[in-house]
Amino acid sequence: MQVQPLPGFRDFDPASYARRAHIQGVWREVARRYGFEEYDGPPLEPLELYTAKSGDEIVGQLYNFTDKGDRQVALRPEMTPTLARMVSARANGLKKPIRWFSIPQLFRYERQQRGRLREHFQFNCDLIGEAGPLADAEVIALAIDVMRAFGLGADAVRVRLSDRRVLTALLTGGGVPQELLQPAFQVIDKSERTPRAELASRLDAAGLSTQASDRVFEVAALKGIDAVRGALAAVPAGEDAGAPLLRTIAALEAQGLAEFVDLDLSIVRGLAYYTGTVFELFDAGRTLRAICGGGRYDDLLGSLGGVSLPAAGFGMGDVVLGELLSEQGLLPAGAGRLDVFVASITPEDEADALALAHELRDAGFSVEFAMAGQAVGKQLKLADARDARWAAVIGPDDRAKGEVVLKDLQGDGQRSVKRDAVAATIAAAR
Ligand code: HAM
Repeated sequence: MQVQPLPGFRDFDPASYARRAHIQGVWREVARRYGFEEYDGPPLEPLELYTAKSGDEIVGQLYNFTDKGDRQVALRPEMTPTLARMVSARANGLKKPIRWFSIPQLFRYERQQRGRLREHFQFNCDLIGEAGPLADAEVIALAIDVMRAFGLGADAVRVRLSDRRVLTALLTGGGVPQELLQPAFQVIDKSERTPRAELASRLDAAGLSTQASDRVFEVAALKGIDAVRGALAAVPAGEDAGAPLLRTIAALEAQGLAEFVDLDLSIVRGLAYYTGTVFELFDAGRTLRAICGGGRYDDLLGSLGGVSLPAAGFGMGDVVLGELLSEQGLLPAGAGRLDVFVASITPEDEADALALAHELRDAGFSVEFAMAGQAVGKQLKLADARDARWAAVIGPDDRAKGEVVLKDLQGDGQRSVKRDAVAATIAAAR
């Protein structure tokens, strides 16, 4: 009987691990350029960390159970609550704004579909302790620069940007009662993928009048700066509500990144804790799910019982991103190649081959040798299969002369080299 991985869980063989390492390598490199420091937390957390603040959708997808000590626990479905707890517990000793990033593996019992698995790695970047719009622009710029570092331009990826403060002003100013904003947000969040009639009946059930319900759909359809400015001018305190968003856009413009950004009020985000800017990254052709999502969450740290600090950040998963990169031919082909394959002609050469292989490894080269006393031809076939750059062949005659035959497996030359010059010769040809 062969036991398969669970649905939605991945085995990473070396080729897929190489792709995963490439993606995570680019994430780390761009985070470094923005001065972010890496952190991590526990993969298993108390259940209540999520039930309190994340919202129903994610709570419905938890991998949770009672542990042997009778504790209610859950595998982490997202990183933000862990981060909020960590920072609020240490806040007094940390210089603000705090720039932290992490690449946790997360677990959600989701319905499997393209771009959604039950585990994924998620790049999280969060800037904590700064309430102004430059912080929002900073995390959005970081997300865009990750796309650019992978080779994805504004023709391939779009940032859809919105703001819950703007949505709140437009909805309440248009007759949606304050206490019905949450159901209105939930409907906007689903407005793209669920038929309007179904959403309208949800609003009706929540207690919204037909007029207020129409307003929800009207607001969700607003796109572009001019349309949003115009709508804000027509509601009380609209201009104040729109000011941070416009300053965020101006800061992205100043960095030459505004061409990636579309103002789009159908974005509101499913998680409950966002309080201001919200954004998602999508492939421009819109054939895939969101690559990245984030926003401002100024109340989460305080609500978890620690120091209250404003915060903004995002999470970017490896699944949709991996699909997009592979579609566009932007993923590396496979595992890195071997520097040297050491082959031996007779059993008597073996000890010398082992000594040379070890010396070359000590010198920092990646080295392999045949383990099964095969004919040289077979050993060289293995060297080819490993995509080795060089073969170092040791036989009785060369050994007597203190030499090794170095074969260039990428070209077709070969030459005899003094045994103690092998490492230097290979290094010089790198
Ligand atoms: P989220 O929108 O739930 O946000 O997830 C962020 C990204 O993670 C998504 O855009 C998607 O790329 C990826 N993702 C989520 N669920 C799955 C899944 N089941 N399979 C594959 N990929 C998935 C958050 O989690 C927030 N905590 C992000 C954040 C950080 N906000 C502020 N700071």
